[in-house]
Amino acid sequence: MESNYHDRIPNNVDLGSNRTLQRALEHWQPEFLNWWHGLGPSDFNAAEVYLRTALSVDTKGWATFGYVKMPDYRWGIFLAEPETDRKIGFGDNFGQTAWQQVPGEHRSTLRRLIVTQGDTEPASVEQQRLLGHTAPSLYDLRNLFQVNVEEGRHLWAMVYLLHAYFGRDGREEAEELLERHSGDADKPRILSTFNEPISDWLSFYMFTYFTDRDGKFQLKSLAESSFDPLSRTCRFMLTEEAHHMFVGDTGIGRVIKRTIEVMKELGTDDPVAMRKAGAIDLPTIQRYLNFWFSSSLDLFGGDSSSNAASYFANGLKGRPDEERYEDHLAAEQAHTLELPDGKGGVRSEQIPMRNAMNEVVRESYVRDCEKGLGRWNKLLEDSGYPQRMFLPSPRFRRTVGSWANIPTDLDGKPISTEEFAARQTEWLPTEGDRAYVRSLMKGVFERGKMAGWIAPPERGINTKPSDFEYVLLH
Ligand SMILES: [Fe+2]
Ligand SMILES: [Fe+2]
Repeated sequence: MESNYHDRIPNNVDLGSNRTLQRALEHWQPEFLNWWHGLGPSDFNAAEVYLRTALSVDTKGWATFGYVKMPDYRWGIFLAEPETDRKIGFGDNFGQTAWQQVPGEHRSTLRRLIVTQGDTEPASVEQQRLLGHTAPSLYDLRNLFQVNVEEGRHLWAMVYLLHAYFGRDGREEAEELLERHSGDADKPRILSTFNEPISDWLSFYMFTYFTDRDGKFQLKSLAESSFDPLSRTCRFMLTEEAHHMFVGDTGIGRVIKRTIEVMKELGTDDPVAMRKAGAIDLPTIQRYLNFWFSSSLDLFGGDSSSNAASYFANGLKGRPDEERYEDHLAAEQAHTLELPDGKGGVRSEQIPMRNAMNEVVRESYVRDCEKGLGRWNKLLEDSGYPQRMFLPSPRFRRTVGSWANIPTDLDGKPISTEEFAARQTEWLPTEGDRAYVRSLMKGVFERGKMAGWIAPPERGINTKPSDFEYVLLH
């Protein structure tokens, strides 16, 4: 597949052969840049950042490294290579030829799915826009900006689909993707997690670990779509997304590593003493984890959902790695949900599998989240400490689905509203925690230096040493 990297909009979709589409996207391009300058990373646009840029989707071209000023990053349109004669892998049309165009009857639903995904991409850039000032090192600063430019590219990916396949409605949606803003009182982003401020780096690592991982599962579900251009777009986005989760995984690991070092130095894990020494105590890290994990779980939608059932039936949105399942119709199976019984207990209910798709995907997301926990806990174990990080029950602090607004403890046991109110300072970041974490956030911009609350990375980026000058500020 030809990559037209030197076009005004780099692409591998032969954009030059469709003048109308090309012109429409060239019209959107300055609006995008305008948005980037207004709501993208503040103040670092003149810095040279050691970034990875996709020039094409093959192994040689997808990860090209070099110093780039962020506004000069080449935001392009790249779809994974087409699969010859791709067939629909699930739902009522299983085995039929995948669609190259949008079927009329699924037009508005597919558009909504694409807009909802697309909305999260610029939202996270907006959420993270001030973080550069408090980066713990040049290495981290570079990773933040890498994530930011790629989320910008993911927005391009969705806008391309809207422009190319949804006509005028699609172009209007593309405009609105730049008009809604994270946390805006009048025009907020669509999903609530993407309106939460990210004002410290512990939250950033939690977000890239838990919320970008929701992104991974959404993209994997959409990569199964019968609408082939959507599938190919998402497949390429997933290769970039992997780095975002790496930033979260290693970021949280490095915070815990540093915390363990300070626990050893002081001979105590007392939070007050830990804070005096400038480290983040384990209970605070756990509370941040509880917050972002529970918030990210809501992104999967209701546990019993007729929308999810019809997305599956119609082949719009599938299960991640559908080929691993035996029954691609899922028409006869059932799934057991554990629901609040309304009397302070839990009851089980069987629902049709198709209606449980959100829950099925959420369950595999939870299993994926556990992998990082294993790595972080290994650090504690190897240091001889009995403490362990853990995921709270998926029932805890939910605002979507059957457990929405039902107070539970971390094990998912229903409790009274009073008990929840009394104990939430144990479970969720307090104002004091946030103020303390914020007080640690001071930019460290000297080559090879690292803030005191986080350990240096094990290795650098793209074979460069970890003390490489990843961002040239002057
Ligand atoms: Fe993304
Ligand atoms: Fe991401």
